[in-house]
Amino acid sequence: MPDDNKEVYSTVEFDSWAHRGGLIPSERILFEKHLASDADTVEAGTSGGRILLELQKRGCSRLWGFDYVPEFIEQARKRDVSGKISFAVMDATRLDYPDAKFQQIIYLQQIISLIESEEGRGRAVREAFRILRPGGTAFFSFLCAESRGASSAYRWFMGWIRLLRALRFSRMSIQYQPWLKLGGRINWAALLDRSPHVYWYQMAEAEAMLAAAGFKVVAVGTDEQVTAGTMQAAARLLRGLPLRGHLYFVCAK
Ligand SMILES: C[S@@+](CC[C@H](N)C(=O)[O-])C[C@H]1O[C@@H](n2cnc3c(N)ncnc32)[C@H](O)[C@@H]1O
Repeated sequence: MPDDNKEVYSTVEFDSWAHRGGLIPSERILFEKHLASDADTVEAGTSGGRILLELQKRGCSRLWGFDYVPEFIEQARKRDVSGKISFAVMDATRLDYPDAKFQQIIYLQQIISLIESEEGRGRAVREAFRILRPGGTAFFSFLCAESRGASSAYRWFMGWIRLLRALRFSRMSIQYQPWLKLGGRINWAALLDRSPHVYWYQMAEAEAMLAAAGFKVVAVGTDEQVTAGTMQAAARLLRGLPLRGHLYFVCAK
């Protein structure tokens, strides 16, 4: 078992992300509606550059991307045959970019949820705010506790994890969950609550963290709202609506 999420991505999850292409429907819809093609844009946790290469095909030319796994950055550079995307090895919690460098920042595929400590997640969001220019646009997505809680199989699993933690006198929040699949296979070690864990945000909590860093929410919704074109102006307006998949925010600085 990998020790932490960085090791997960450099080993069992590497192949799955290094060679991917295409955009998922929610990404395509968000970018069509909110992304400008002529703005300096950075993607956090780019892996093999999937999103940036797709944006390049769609006419974006001023693109940057970083990842904390050096082998992903090597792969992304190879895949960018134009050689025009600036890729770098960096950790989202401590970036080398100067203040206000970018007009658009992309923190999709739940990168913040992959950071193990609360302090680290807060620092990464503050770093995201720092590198965004005033008036710029930020895209975030989070693992969403409420969407997942809508599934009865998953509620059963949560009950089991709660019991295990109680038996072990563990005070770990139930929002930390083990990986259910790794490298495309069921991760049986999840039944023993083995590390590493990822963090499932409550909607209001994710919104409060973004607001605390200085972001203003423009639109928020799960995959359900993004694909139906019914994103809301605040997380509280999602209460009582059908929730499915990840939680997306479009924010302004
Ligand atoms: C789910 S993959 C998404 C890859 C890519 N964004 C995409 O959508 O195709 C998450 C990526 O984030 C990277 N990552 C996770 N935490 C990071 C951190 N703290 N700093 C930089 N990269 C990170 C991982 O190495 C991995 O490449």
